Parts: sequence; structure tokens; C-alpha cells
Amino acid sequence: MRIGVFDSGAGGLSVVKSLIESKLFKEIIYYGDTARVPYGTKDKNTIIRYSLEALEFFNNFDIDLLITACNTVSAYALDEMNIQSSYPVLGVIKSGVMAVENHYIKKDEPILIIATRATISSSRYQDALSKLGYTNITAIQTGLFVPLVEEGIFSGEILNATMRHYFNNISTPKAIILGCTHFPLISSALEDYFNKKPMLIHSGEAIVEYLKEHNSLEEIESETKLKIFASDNVVGLREIANRWLFNINS
Ligand code: DGL
Repeated sequence: MRIGVFDSGAGGLSVVKSLIESKLFKEIIYYGDTARVPYGTKDKNTIIRYSLEALEFFNNFDIDLLITACNTVSAYALDEMNIQSSYPVLGVIKSGVMAVENHYIKKDEPILIIATRATISSSRYQDALSKLGYTNITAIQTGLFVPLVEEGIFSGEILNATMRHYFNNISTPKAIILGCTHFPLISSALEDYFNKKPMLIHSGEAIVEYLKEHNSLEEIESETKLKIFASDNVVGLREIANRWLFNINS
């Protein structure tokens, strides 16, 4: 299977990491809209327009499935993208919600959703969880984490201060949905902040679980090939990929 992965920028590489580790795919074509990131501060119509424009990029490749690693795109543009594409387009919200169920979080246990302003405002996670009967949901816009991760800040005082700023009045949740591509990179800091108590739901791991459950895919023998493209500074994006995915510093 050859799949496309679309993200607003570099963050979707955190999802690619899980997809590569899953060994389910022959080839991954990654496209990051680095010229226009962030999407999480834009309004609905802009997010939909940018996402549909990204489909034009993937028309150059014969892909079987497109995964929108970006939570913000998943929150707003999936229906429009599915109407306009000849292959299925899968977001990360449904699978993230499924992961909460799969991890046996009880309906009244506290769940914290952290994501961009746009994703939280869409209420997609909150609505999907409420529909399943979860009653103790807190959703916070934590957009400042995005530039910190982009700067390579995964620990330390600035990040700790930002966590204190956002989580000051939050008691320790049972699960945290990392509703943004960038947040898996600060997983350890989040775990430390909450004394390792909450379970962290990661979009990449959740989508792999979802695909295994719904698409009956089997592991392949060979390594997954990865091709990376971007709307701006593709060299910079490939360097980030080397660091995040393969621990290679160039
Ligand atoms: N990729 C975005 C998301 O997962 C975060 C970065 C952005 O705002 O574009 O929501």
C-alpha cells in the first residue's frame, strides 16, 4: 500500500514515525504545507481551502489512502477532502477517540484534550467523546506548545512555565488526548508534569491501531520508503525528519 500523509508542516512526522514503525505500508508520501503553517490559528474556510489545495499535490502520486496527520485539518476539512478525492481520506480524531475506548477509560474519569485553538473550537473531540457517554471532559487550547516544539524545545524551564500557565487549575486527568501533531514530542515533559499518572493518547499510535482494526492490513517484510515534500524549505523539513525519525543530526 502506498499512502499519503498530509500535515500543515513538520508536526505530522510524529504520526509518520508510528506509521513507519507499524510496517504496514510500502511507501509513504509526506507533504507538509510549511509555507502556510500554522493552520491551528486560521479560520474554518481557510483551513478547508488549504486542505483542498493539498489534494492537488497528491494527485501527482498514485496513493491508496491519504491520512491527514494534522488534527486541525481532521477537525474541519475531512468531508470536503473526501468529496474531492478519488482515494479515501482518513483523519486522526476518530481513531484518537477510539483509543480512549480501547484503553478502558471509564465514562466518568477525567479526560483532558489539548490541541490548537481551531481544533478545540471545532468541538470534534468533545462531541465524539460526549456521544460515547464520557462525562468528565476538559478541553484546552494550548497553541504555545507548537512554536516551542518547532524550536526544538522538548524540556526545560520555558516549557515548564508554559505547562504551569495552561494546567494551573487542572487536576490530574486519567487520560490526555494529544490533539495536535506536535505534542507527542513533549510527551515526557507532560508525563513528568502530571507525575506519570495520565495515559497519553498519541494520534500516530491511535491511527495505527485503527487501521489494524478496520482495514485488516498485514505487516510487510521490507522497510517503508519515505518521500518528503513541502511547500517551502523542503531541506529544512528533511533535516527535521532525520532528527525526529532517525535521530540523525545534519
Ligand atoms: N498540525 C497541527 C495540528 O495537529 C498543529 C500545527 C498547526 O497549527 O498547523 O493541529
